[in-house]
Amino acid sequence: MRVLSVLSLILGLATFPSFAQQAADTTAPESASPATAQPDGPVTAKKWMISAANPLAAKAGARILREGGTAADAAIAVQAVLGLVEPQSSGLGGGAFVIYYDAKSGKLTTLDGRETAPMDATPRLFQDDQGEPLKFFEAVVGGRSVGVPGTPKLLEEIYKRWGKTEWKSLFDDAIALSTHGFAVSPRLEKLVAKDAKRLVIDPLASAYFLPGGKPLEVGNILVNPAYTESLTALATGGSAAFYTGDIAAAIVEKIRGAVDNPGVMRKADLATYEVKEREPVCVPYRGNDICGMGPPSSGALTVGQILGMLAPFDLAALGPDDPASWQLIGDASRLAFADRGRYMADSDYVPLPVKGLVDPAYLATRSALLQPGLRLEEAKPGTPKWDHAGLLADDEAIELPSTSHFSIIDQFGNALSMTTTIENGFGSRLMVAGFLLNNELTDFSFRSHRNGVPIANRVEPGKRPRSSMSPTIVMKDGKPSFLIGSPGGSRIITYVAKTIIAKIDWGMNVQQAIALPHVVNRFGTFDLEKGTKAESMATELEAMGYKTKVRDLNSGLHGIVVSEDGLEGGADPRREGVVIGE
Ligand code: GLY
Repeated sequence: MRVLSVLSLILGLATFPSFAQQAADTTAPESASPATAQPDGPVTAKKWMISAANPLAAKAGARILREGGTAADAAIAVQAVLGLVEPQSSGLGGGAFVIYYDAKSGKLTTLDGRETAPMDATPRLFQDDQGEPLKFFEAVVGGRSVGVPGTPKLLEEIYKRWGKTEWKSLFDDAIALSTHGFAVSPRLEKLVAKDAKRLVIDPLASAYFLPGGKPLEVGNILVNPAYTESLTALATGGSAAFYTGDIAAAIVEKIRGAVDNPGVMRKADLATYEVKEREPVCVPYRGNDICGMGPPSSGALTVGQILGMLAPFDLAALGPDDPASWQLIGDASRLAFADRGRYMADSDYVPLPVKGLVDPAYLATRSALLQPGLRLEEAKPGTPKWDHAGLLADDEAIELPSTSHFSIIDQFGNALSMTTTIENGFGSRLMVAGFLLNNELTDFSFRSHRNGVPIANRVEPGKRPRSSMSPTIVMKDGKPSFLIGSPGGSRIITYVAKTIIAKIDWGMNVQQAIALPHVVNRFGTFDLEKGTKAESMATELEAMGYKTKVRDLNSGLHGIVVSEDGLEGGADPRREGVVIGE
C-alpha cells in the first residue's frame, strides 16, 4: 500500500492518496523498525534518522540515508522537496543556516546561507519620505524586501564538504513530485486561504496558489513544471545555474519590475553571493555544550544566554508544572532579548561582543537579577565585556512566525541541524521559476537610528539581516547528543531553549519535550499556548505582576536524541512533520 501510493504519485495515476494517507504511508515501516512519533512516544532507531516538517520531504531524505548517503546528501533532497510541498516556509528563493558534525574529523561547522541586502540597498530601505518606518506588510509584499537567496549555494556547499551520493540524484524525488504532482496538505490549504488577498499581487503566485481564482484545497494534486525546470537546472548545472543565467535574470526582472513596491537587486548581487563559514557559538549548560549559529543569527547567543542565566537555578526540582519555573525562564528570556535588541546583528558589518555576551562571569551578573517568584521590573540590556567603544540604540525588527527545521543523523554518525526560511509565510509573495522569493530583508530594523544613534541591525548594502533561527546541536563529551531547531520568528529562540530544558532538566523524552506546551516571554508579556495546560499558568503569573496572553504558538520543532541506546526522534504535533529512522 505504501509503495503503491508513492508509485501512483510518481506515475501520475488517477487515484491519489489523501494527505493523511500519504502521511500514514510515509511513516509506516519501510523496514523493520521505523515509525512515526506518537503524542508521547518518540520514534526509535539504530542506524539513521530524519525528523522534518513534511512526510514527503522526510521520505525523500530517508531514501538517501537508507541508500548510504550522508546527512548532507539527505538535507539536499529534503530541502528540494520542502520547497515544493511547504513552499510558504522555505525554498530555493530563501536562506538557511546549517550546523554539521562530521564524525570522521569530530569537527562541528556552522555555515551561513543567509540572504544579503543588494548593494544598492540603504538604511532607508523601509522608511517613508519622513524617515518613519513603513508598515510591516507594506514593506514585505513586493520586490523591496527580497534578499539575495542563499539556499541553493548553501546546498552546494554542504555537498562539496560532506556529500557522497551523486549530486544529480539528490533532486530525483522532488523532480518526480513536481512533475507528477503531490497532494495539497491541510496546512498548505489553510495558509493559502488566509493569504489569498496578498498572493493575488503576483500573476504566477496567483495562478499557482489560487487556480481559477479559488484557493487550493486539501487533496488537490499540484504539479509545478517551472519548479521541475529549476531543479533540473540545479541538478545539472550546480548553483551557477541559479545565480547566473535565466533564473537569475528572471529573479531580477521580477524584483525590479514589481508594481507598487519594486526592489533594487541586480544580477551582480546574485552572481557574487557567498556562503560563509562562521565560528560555532557553544555555551555550557549542565555538563553539555549547547552549540549553534552565531551572527548574523541571534539564535545561539540568545539561547545560550537564557540557559547560562538559568544554570544556577534548580529547575529540575521546580519542574514543568510550577509557574515559578516559567517565571525564571521568562525573565531570563527578557534579559537575553534585551541584549539581542541592542547588540546582535551581522558581525561582518557591526562590531559585536560575541564572547562577552556568553561569558560565564557576565551571565552570572545577569542571572543575579533573577528572583524566584518575583517579577523582574525592567529588562534592560547589560554591558558585556567588550574592547570596542561605541553607541548603539535598541532594535525594532518585526518577526512573524514562518520557516522550517529538520534534523538528520546518518549511519556514519554525521549529524545535521538545519533551519531554512523564506521569512514570512509565502515570503515577498513574488514567484519566479516555480518558487517564492523571500522577504528576509524585513528582518532588518526598519528604523536605522534612534536620536542620532545607529541601530546595529539597520539595513546596509551587502549586509545579512539578523535572524532568530537556532539550529542547534547539543554536544556531550565531544559528541552530538541532541539535534533541535524550530520555525517561529523570534519565538524560535524560546521554543528551542524550552525544549532543551525539558530534556535536560525535566528528563522528558524528545517527543514529550517538543510537545510540552509553550510559555513564552520575550518583551514582558507571557504568551501562553492556546488550548493547552499552559493557559492555567495565567492566574499565578498575573499574581506576580505579569501580563499574559493566550495564543497559538506554532513551533515546528524537529529533533533527534543520540545516546548509547540508539536514536530517538520527535516531530512537532503542531505541524505536519514526521520522524523516519532505521
Ligand atoms: N526569518 C526568520 C529568521 O531568520 O529568524
